[in-house]
Amino acid sequence: MRILVTGGAGFIGSHVVDAYVKAGHRVTVLDNLVSGNVKNLNRRARFVKADVRRKEMERVFEFGRFDVVNHLAAQIDVRRSVENPVFDADVNILGLLNVLELSRKFRVKKIIFSASGGTYYGECARPARETDPPRPLSPYGISKLASEFYLRAYRSLHSLPYTVLRYGNVYGPRQDPHGEAGVVAIFCQRLLADKAAYIYGTGKQQRDYVFVSDVARANVAALLRGEGESINIGTGRAGDVNRLFEVLRASHPGPSSFERKPARPGELFRSVLNVSKAALVLGWKPRVSLKDGLAETYRHIASQNQ
Ligand SMILES: NC(=O)c1ccc[n+]([C@@H]2O[C@H](COP(=O)([O-])OP(=O)(O)OC[C@H]3O[C@@H](n4cnc5c(N)ncnc54)[C@H](O)[C@@H]3O)[C@@H](O)[C@H]2O)c1
Repeated sequence: MRILVTGGAGFIGSHVVDAYVKAGHRVTVLDNLVSGNVKNLNRRARFVKADVRRKEMERVFEFGRFDVVNHLAAQIDVRRSVENPVFDADVNILGLLNVLELSRKFRVKKIIFSASGGTYYGECARPARETDPPRPLSPYGISKLASEFYLRAYRSLHSLPYTVLRYGNVYGPRQDPHGEAGVVAIFCQRLLADKAAYIYGTGKQQRDYVFVSDVARANVAALLRGEGESINIGTGRAGDVNRLFEVLRASHPGPSSFERKPARPGELFRSVLNVSKAALVLGWKPRVSLKDGLAETYRHIASQNQ
């Protein structure tokens, strides 16, 4: 297939590109490199430096004749979305609309979209299902949910197929400290700098940490499956911040310490995703344990620091 991956120089996007290239697809990466990095680019993919909001995207679509567009480019910082919701909507909503209009015009056969299970479901007494009512509180979560409605509308108005993948907290090699599982990168950097890591509140806040290679595999499955669906991609298990630190410090050969800081107001206590729909619809299950994934992430960040 001919596939366009927007945001393909970023953390998750670059792993998705690697998986598509490995599966034999012809991949074009489009990224403005605002948080992505040329070091992440796959040499076997074509790279176009461009902004998803701009008019020049039309030439990329005209030239590329893509079968699938996997749209990962986004403003991903939840705190920044609170400070500047207009910028968040500009990139995340107007950027998506530009991609959708061009996909319609150039008869793209499918859109795959990265959404955020971690910001939709609020406090989770049990792992959240896709049918649970979404209650995003941040402008970022709202722009992601609004995007899902636009995708549904384009499917019904213009017969443009789509699959939405709602990620938990994605972590792994190449991750940035500002993303939704930024804590993993931050802990690694503090350990490697021989500085104390900060743990806010009790450290018992639970999240669904899913390893990036598992997320990339879900994006491969979504090429052919999951049409018209929104699907949680996580592990179904809750990992807490204290455990993350304990596992990461076990990988770190030097001394390690942490400091407790006051709890951050408004922080969710527990966010976990039920992933049974992913198994049913995509034939996908997470494979990498938290322990193995964290060890691999630590090794990668340590090797970058040398
Ligand atoms: N990391 C997570 O835990 C997580 C969880 C849920 C959803 N997501 C979603 O997954 C996607 C990828 O996130 P990530 O964690 O890899 O972040 P990332 O910042 O590494 O990737 C985003 C990429 O988009 C590019 N980009 C940003 N604005 C752009 C623009 N206007 N035009 C072109 N390119 C632009 C950036 O340069 C970057 O390479 C995003 O849509 C994000 O919202 C991530």
